[in-house]
Amino acid sequence: MKTLLKWLGIIFAVLVGLIVILVAAVFIMSNTRLNKVYSIQVESVAVPSDPESIEYGRHVATIRACIDCHGPDLGGRTMLDDPMIGQIYTAT
Ligand code: HEC
Repeated sequence: MKTLLKWLGIIFAVLVGLIVILVAAVFIMSNTRLNKVYSIQVESVAVPSDPESIEYGRHVATIRACIDCHGPDLGGRTMLDDPMIGQIYTAT
């Protein structure tokens, strides 16, 4: 009986040790990923503002149906307001 209790105690201690090691490993791995720092090259994007480009943008927003959801001036609007489903607002 004493030997059985001793072995059960050893098995329990090993299991607890494995769980502690597993939790520590997951904690360290997730912390490493969360704190990972990326160095990126910031590039500036040239945004055209001539009337021709603006008209082309309006054309694309119309044919791609962006304005159907985002509103005629792309200012955002309530897309869905259903008490059973919820509310969806399109971003401005
Ligand atoms: C079917 C409806 C629908 C259409 C069509 C649509 N959008 Fe959206 N758009 C949404 C919704 C809804 C959101 C908000 C999503 C969110 O907040 O998670 C969104 C978000 C965005 C965002 C993100 C804004 C932000 O602040 O992060 C951009 C950019 C965008 N849309 C551009 C476009 C463009 C460009 C088009 C056309 C090519 C387009 N959308 C067509 C519904 C639409």
